[in-house]
Formats: sequence, structure tokens, C-alpha cells
Amino acid sequence: MSVWAVLAAAGRGERLGDDRPKAFARLGDLPLVAEPLRRLDDSDWIDGIVVAAPAGWEEPCIVLAEELAAGKVGAVVTGGDTRAASVRAALAEVPEDVAVVVVHDAARPLVSDDVLGRVLAPLSEGYEGAVPVLPLADTVKRVRRDEVVETLDRAELVASQTPQAFLADALRRAADGEGPDCASLVEAQGGRIKTVPGDRRLLKVTSPEDLELVAIWL
Ligand code: CTP
Ligand code: MG
Repeated sequence: MSVWAVLAAAGRGERLGDDRPKAFARLGDLPLVAEPLRRLDDSDWIDGIVVAAPAGWEEPCIVLAEELAAGKVGAVVTGGDTRAASVRAALAEVPEDVAVVVVHDAARPLVSDDVLGRVLAPLSEGYEGAVPVLPLADTVKRVRRDEVVETLDRAELVASQTPQAFLADALRRAADGEGPDCASLVEAQGGRIKTVPGDRRLLKVTSPEDLELVAIWL
């Protein structure tokens, strides 16, 4: 059974505030996207990779993949205006006969074989998809104009991360939708999504402080 990864790297990184897209912000000596790309390429779980790059950064992505000798990269596509559009563009380059697609945020550099194994397992147990999640440490409140409207019951809430794994057919059927992550698209189609333990080190680099933290963990 063939497993391909879609690496969503096409965001602008506005909250990071660098002079370039987040995928090309420096992490150690290389652009941020190098770390998840190398890790996915090295993983025995992954057979092929499609990268969604920011418009105008396709060529640097191809050059980077060559420098890393990331031989599993089958295509680099131009991302879209939303994450869902970027994933859609990448999915179009995943070969038809691929049974399972793993979607991963380039902004979470420290993807590991352990979490890949955890999200892939439920796909042979009747689930259409699986997502790594973390319990929330903070209390969560709904607010409107700086005023608390409601305090939510933390026991039922989790934070979801990537990599997220899907049966390719289920993801393809859902891919026309819009949503914050791929699981939400498959959920909207009635797909069953299993949660598995996430990893604090899969932190999504959003602010400059996150980048410092991930650099320490490298
Ligand atoms: N992403 C993408 N295409 C988009 C938007 C986001 O491929 N149009 C990717 C990002 O590159 C990132 C992941 O989706 O790896 C999660 O998005 P996020 O952390 O929000 O990144 P950005 O959108 O780049 O950051 P910001 O929202 O601060 O601009
Ligand atoms: Mg964003």
C-alpha cells in the first residue's frame, strides 16, 4: 500500500513577520521547510512527496529538494490562497493509485516516524482519517470584543496537529471544501476521524518565539 505525503508550505507567514514566506525563514542553517522535507523523505512510512510552495518560490523548493537529495519528491506545485487550496493543488499531483495520503504543515518541522506510525494505524481499523491531538493546558473561553461570553469545558477539547493521515479517496472527495485543517473537510463529508496522541514538539511555528523554541529542539 503506497503512502504519499503532501507538505503544505505555501503560507505567507504573516504572524512570523519575516521578509520571506515562513517556509523559507531560517531554522539553523537552512530554510524551515528543509527540516520536515528531510524527515518525510527519510521516513520508511512515506513513498512519495508533493510540496505546495508559495507562488514564486517553486524553484527554490526544487533546488532545496535536490540539495537535500530528497528523492521522494514527485512534484512541487504552486500553493493557493488558503491552506485547503494548497492541499488541493498538491493532491492533484499525487498518483491515482496511491491509497493513503498524509498531509503535513511545513510549519511543524519536527515530524517523526513515531507520530506517522500513530496516524497511519487507524486507517486499517475502519477510519477514513486520523489526527494527532494534545489535551489543552489552558482554560478556553469564548470572547467577543474583549469580553468573556462563555468558559468551555476543557475535558472535551483538544488541539489538533499534523501530520494527518487519510484514505486517499476520502480526502479527494472532501478536497473541494474549505476548512482550517484536512480532517475538518473529511469530517464535513461524514468521514470518521480517529484521534491519536500528538507531540508537544510538533509545535506549529507561528511567532518568532516558536522559531527559537524549535531551533533549540532541533
Ligand atoms: N499553508 C499553505 N497555503 C496557504 C496557507 C497556509 O500551504 N495558503 C500552510 C502553511 O505554509 C503552513 C500550514 O499551512 O505550513 C499552516 O498554516 P499557518 O501556520 O497559518 O501558516 P501561514 O498561513 O504561512 O502563517 P500566517 O497565518 O501567520 O500567515
Ligand atoms: Mg495561516
